[in-house]
Amino acid sequence: MSDSFRALRLNKTDDGQSHEIVDITEDALMDGDVSVAVSHSTLNYKDGLDLTGAVPVVRTWPMIPGIDFVGTVERSDHADYQAGDSVILNGWGVGEGHFGGYAQKARVNGDWLVKRPEAISPARAMAIGTAGYTAMLCVMAIEPDTPTDAGEVLVTGAAGGVGSVAVALLAKLGYQVVASTGRSEEADYLTGLGASRIIDRAELSEQGRPLDKEKWAAVVDAVGSHTLANAISQTRYGGTVAACGLAQGPDLPASVMPFILRGVTLRGVDSVMAPKPLREQAWARLATDLDFAKLDAMTSTASMSDLPELGQKILAGQTRGRIVIDVNA
Ligand SMILES: NC(=O)c1ccc[n+]([C@@H]2O[C@H](COP(=O)([O-])OP(=O)(O)OC[C@H]3O[C@@H](n4cnc5c(N)ncnc54)[C@H](OP(=O)(O)O)[C@@H]3O)[C@@H](O)[C@H]2O)c1
Repeated sequence: MSDSFRALRLNKTDDGQSHEIVDITEDALMDGDVSVAVSHSTLNYKDGLDLTGAVPVVRTWPMIPGIDFVGTVERSDHADYQAGDSVILNGWGVGEGHFGGYAQKARVNGDWLVKRPEAISPARAMAIGTAGYTAMLCVMAIEPDTPTDAGEVLVTGAAGGVGSVAVALLAKLGYQVVASTGRSEEADYLTGLGASRIIDRAELSEQGRPLDKEKWAAVVDAVGSHTLANAISQTRYGGTVAACGLAQGPDLPASVMPFILRGVTLRGVDSVMAPKPLREQAWARLATDLDFAKLDAMTSTASMSDLPELGQKILAGQTRGRIVIDVNA
């Protein structure tokens, strides 16, 4: 009989869902060809949805949530992995339809894994997590059309996870970064990450003009709704807007004018089903283009028992930067 290990489990109840920390054995894990001893997971916005049930993202009950993990391969029937390899998992529906990272062990399809770049420690890999890897995908989405001297690049939801990593990445790459935040008290934090200017998110959060004054060479948007519509209407001729989030809302009350009069490009960014070569490229870039001192400055650490409360907080916009979950603490 295999040894037991700890996991956070979500159960469906008559009036919603409940959570508990349980001891389970490997027999309880779902099918997969790679078994991993998990060292760290993290907290993303979607984990907040999972943990609270605010939006029904869990598809199979009971569920071990956690859309990310890093750990060491214990057993593998997959050609690309062997015992001892250090691997990262982001997305692929893990934590939603397949048991996820809020556990000391996981078993998954090896096709979902990427090898951890040596330069990124396990804890830092989860400080990056889906939020940071998505920020990298957003940067990669705007880069081809945005020379570093093109002008100011706007990052919305800047004090959140995606936003914080995007600010740090863009600043290191030499862009002039404008951070939009609703938290004026985080101005020093955002300047420390490399923002050259801070704007109040209220400037972008109400219905605006279909075609506004040109301001941004490019945009990384984690917020959606009016914020994204205004960011598009303020993007300069030929600029690109990378849209990855919906913290304000999933709607897009925008006009076609910026597209047909300014040739603005709106690029959708998805991390969950992104193909493996793109993931590997993003993680390789993170190893070289992210300032780890800045990553450390935006990161705090918590344990599995903190997760239910942190899930509420991230949805309320009350967490800053990135939170690593030490599953063995
Ligand atoms: N497409 C993908 O694959 C992908 C991957 C990861 C995340 N996402 C999405 O990206 C978004 C951000 O994720 P995250 O992990 O960075 O979450 P997060 O840490 O909670 O950051 C979201 C930030 O958005 C801002 N915000 C919150 N509510 C707002 C509102 N009502 N109006 C305007 N701004 C608001 C806040 O920033 P300030 O306090 O600075 O204003 C908040 O910190 C989420 O919607 C998430 O689902 C998508």
